[in-house]
Amino acid sequence: MNEEFHYKGGELYCENVPVTRVAERIGTPVYIYSQNHFIKQANAIREAFKEVEPLVCYSVKANSNLGLLRAMALAGAGFDAVSKGEVYRALRAGAEPGKVVFAGVGKQADEVDYALSQGILMFNVESESELDMISKVAGKRKVEAPIALRLNPDVDPKTHKYIATGKRENKFGIDLERAEKCLTRIKELKNLRLRGLHIHIGSQITQADRHAEAIDKVTPFIEKVKKGDFPLEFLNVGGGFGISYQPGEGLAIGEFAKIMVPKIKALGLKMLSEPGRFISGNGGILLNRVIFDKPSGDKNFLIVDGAMNDLLRPSIYQAYHLSWPVKQAGLPDGAALGDKSPLTDAAAGKDPVTYDVVGPICESGDYFALGRKLPRMKEGDLLAVFSAGAYGFSMSSNYNTRGRPAEVIVNGNEFWVARDRETLEDQVRGERLTPRETFKA
Ligand SMILES: Cc1ncc(COP(=O)(O)O)c(C=O)c1O
Repeated sequence: MNEEFHYKGGELYCENVPVTRVAERIGTPVYIYSQNHFIKQANAIREAFKEVEPLVCYSVKANSNLGLLRAMALAGAGFDAVSKGEVYRALRAGAEPGKVVFAGVGKQADEVDYALSQGILMFNVESESELDMISKVAGKRKVEAPIALRLNPDVDPKTHKYIATGKRENKFGIDLERAEKCLTRIKELKNLRLRGLHIHIGSQITQADRHAEAIDKVTPFIEKVKKGDFPLEFLNVGGGFGISYQPGEGLAIGEFAKIMVPKIKALGLKMLSEPGRFISGNGGILLNRVIFDKPSGDKNFLIVDGAMNDLLRPSIYQAYHLSWPVKQAGLPDGAALGDKSPLTDAAAGKDPVTYDVVGPICESGDYFALGRKLPRMKEGDLLAVFSAGAYGFSMSSNYNTRGRPAEVIVNGNEFWVARDRETLEDQVRGERLTPRETFKA
């Protein structure tokens, strides 16, 4: 059960704050995050994997709000970044540089130089060319760059194809045959120090044996590396721990740990992990207000003020997000997202309406929920889209010249605006009506 977002007295709370209060003060659409959910999830990983000295490097891409990153840094987390911008964000939020890892298939020399200058823990290297480039940049600085090789174990993570990253046909990581050649290259190059190996096979993985298979696939290679006089310290198992968008979908973290810990322990390495969704996904909602209830043809469209530019996941992954009214008389206290969630079609009451919950954007793919049974709603009501803490705001855009929503962090019985709602002026910043300078062809 996700206690951080729960119903009490027939209305939705985030921790001890009724979310209606946030809508009244800050307006809608608005992202609301439970700080304590983020911390709790990171602690759950640390506890489950404690035998392999885990370093939890929260994956910044999932939700990169500075206020949340700061809370995570204060709670001892490290960070997983995939761009200079994400390294900057993590450091700006107070991250210890020695707990920042940097992955990505297309790192550029200036990004590597910046990260080196900041003293990050290591680069997760994804190709032979990248080895050469990092060594060159490190050489100019007269330092050794700490690296891990990101291996592609060719494992099917059994998730949406857009977020599968560890199959041979994916662009990520280095296949095991090429990885052998990389070892020779690392020895030849003067400015690299191999500290670890890395795998990340995909996101929203709900079968623990997927991670186990990935570790098994790379184990013979790891043994070989250890014999080849590389002082390996870390096995970075990536992120990917799945969460419950619907009852029964996610897996308790202990289930992953149960089969992964003995394998990591046998390798004699410390575990590094890069969870994003597991930490942030169920730690946020997108709160919307109903603009119109529009019956049309055989359908009922509930048109809300949030849209696909704010939360893209339903439109691009056909992702399911529980969407439910913020107020519903008679809901049991404690009702929440989770395995025994009462927020099902059956709870829509005696007179349910089958809605398509849609936004104002000019695309038919602009929706949060299709064909959902909900209690009848009316204009002005608030509707929460749950599980919006991961890949929500961080994938948002200004499409249709819509200002992105405010982001609010709740901590206990207080809340604060961690990012202002974008204004009209914010949206045209950097654009010009006339040339500042023209260039001859
Ligand atoms: C290298 C790497 N690590 C970690 C993550 C985080 O994944 P998740 O949010 O599923 O934990 C990603 C997501 O794309 C990734 O690419």
